[in-house]
Amino acid sequence: MDKKDSLFSLAEGIRKCVACPLWKGRTLAVPGDGDAKAKIMLVGEAPGAEEDRQGSPFVGRAGKFLDKMLAIADLDREKVFITNVIKCRPPENRDPKKEEVTACKKWLEKQIAVIDPKLIVVLGRIALKRLLDKDKIGELRGKTVEKKYFSDGKFVSRKYFITYHPSAGLRSPEKFGGAIKKDFLKLKKMKL
Ligand code: URA
Repeated sequence: MDKKDSLFSLAEGIRKCVACPLWKGRTLAVPGDGDAKAKIMLVGEAPGAEEDRQGSPFVGRAGKFLDKMLAIADLDREKVFITNVIKCRPPENRDPKKEEVTACKKWLEKQIAVIDPKLIVVLGRIALKRLLDKDKIGELRGKTVEKKYFSDGKFVSRKYFITYHPSAGLRSPEKFGGAIKKDFLKLKKMKL
């Protein structure tokens, strides 16, 4: 199976997933969108109301903000892959629970293994906790971190670039918006 078919079959699995109770409240699951051969993958938190309606990631207000950031980094939305830690919307957009993150873990893990991106852009503290098991986003944002881990019988090394969540930029342009822009400018200059 090529990368595109593998991602498609993962998406089918995600749409049928009942591994945690969030499936009961979903209109549509949100597997993720973009290029199966992307060099850059962006990982957010969880679908919101608009994402749940459309079945695509970052299509609401935070998505518009993210689109602007992608433009700053000179990145085409169709050429990256965008997804979330959690594939179904938590009620009232609350933070995903630990058990939900654990139940959803295999999907993101498999998507990353299939795409095998050169860089994973970590959007916000929930993705930071899930991907790097770190809490202090203020200390890590704007930085690239490399992590080696054992997967599928071999060691893999992954590169992560950390920034704040687009919603933070919307909520507080002075505190977070400028920092996110700076981070995406940095991303633009990275050789991948
Ligand atoms: N926030 C996220 O973290 N992901 C989305 O897809 C939309 C909003």
